[in-house]
Amino acid sequence: MQDRLNAIAETARREIGGADDPGRVEELRIKYLGKKGELSAVLGGMGKLAPDERRRVGEVANRIKAELEGLLAEAVQRAEAKKLEAELKGQKVDVTLPGRQIPPGHRHPVTRTMDDIVQIFRRLGFEIAQGPEIEQDWHNFEALNFPHDHPARDMQDTFFVDAPWVRSTQPVLLRTHTSPVQIRAMLQTEPPVRVVAPGRVYRRDSDLTHSPMFHQVEGLLVDEGVTFAELKGTLDAFVRAFFGADTRTRFRPSFFPFTEPSAEVDVSCVICAGKGCRVCKQTGWLEVLGSGMVHPNVFRSAGYDPSKYSGYAFGMGVERMAMLRYGIDDLRTLFENDIRFLRQF
Ligand code: DAH
Repeated sequence: MQDRLNAIAETARREIGGADDPGRVEELRIKYLGKKGELSAVLGGMGKLAPDERRRVGEVANRIKAELEGLLAEAVQRAEAKKLEAELKGQKVDVTLPGRQIPPGHRHPVTRTMDDIVQIFRRLGFEIAQGPEIEQDWHNFEALNFPHDHPARDMQDTFFVDAPWVRSTQPVLLRTHTSPVQIRAMLQTEPPVRVVAPGRVYRRDSDLTHSPMFHQVEGLLVDEGVTFAELKGTLDAFVRAFFGADTRTRFRPSFFPFTEPSAEVDVSCVICAGKGCRVCKQTGWLEVLGSGMVHPNVFRSAGYDPSKYSGYAFGMGVERMAMLRYGIDDLRTLFENDIRFLRQF
């Protein structure tokens, strides 16, 4: 019996050692180790052996079985390696192929425009100030000389915040403009004050040129003896830096509760250079800014003495500046996050 086992082992070693095909390896496993395989066939006759002899044959059989299992495992690995090699051989690796590009991103056109605006004022000596987007009625309206029932509030209808965590003795709202940052800046320091405040603002408005969330940049300068001429000079310098050196400005009387006198600032149309076109509605001018001399009541709100200090303020919509600069005619495209649109800027 031992001889027969050794003979089986002998052929099995040869056959398994030469096998490198998955189907063939499996065939051999069944042939030698399967339930009806050659080892089982021989061992089936073990019952007839004397106990002593049975033990010796058993040992030999187990050793051979373990050995063949090991050889089969190696054969499987060989077969897999061969298969992989065949696959790779079929594939040509083109080392000259360009790598996969990860396209670099860039700032959103609104962010970029806001950064550029702020940068121009920084060069003129302004610092950056900030305030909260969820603001108290007092900072947003009252302190800016909008009395409680003043009709000027109607132009800035907004979203009032009514949440359990709002602990305020007065209404809390999403700020309608960046002007409350004027108040916060003045409450924090004594004159001279020279700040710009970029940020998000919210209004109940939505159409081609209005979005319920948009951006503004506010400006405030307070000192002794500040005049309207300085306001004009500063904004003129800004407009020329932003739109181009040929751009002209025009100040039109207007009304804002927090400035007196107040002026709208127009720039010569950046599309037609003032000749008259669809964008400027044939007027040659585009309205881009609100501005004026700080109202004495605003100084009083901030604890500044209006007989000692004077100052100017201005505010502009960033989306509008971006639209004019890039020739965008629908403001909403700025917020749709369509990459085909955004990558053009
Ligand atoms: N806060 C105004 C608005 O949102 C814009 C504005 C006008 C700001 C005149 C100013 C200013 O600082 O002086 O319509």
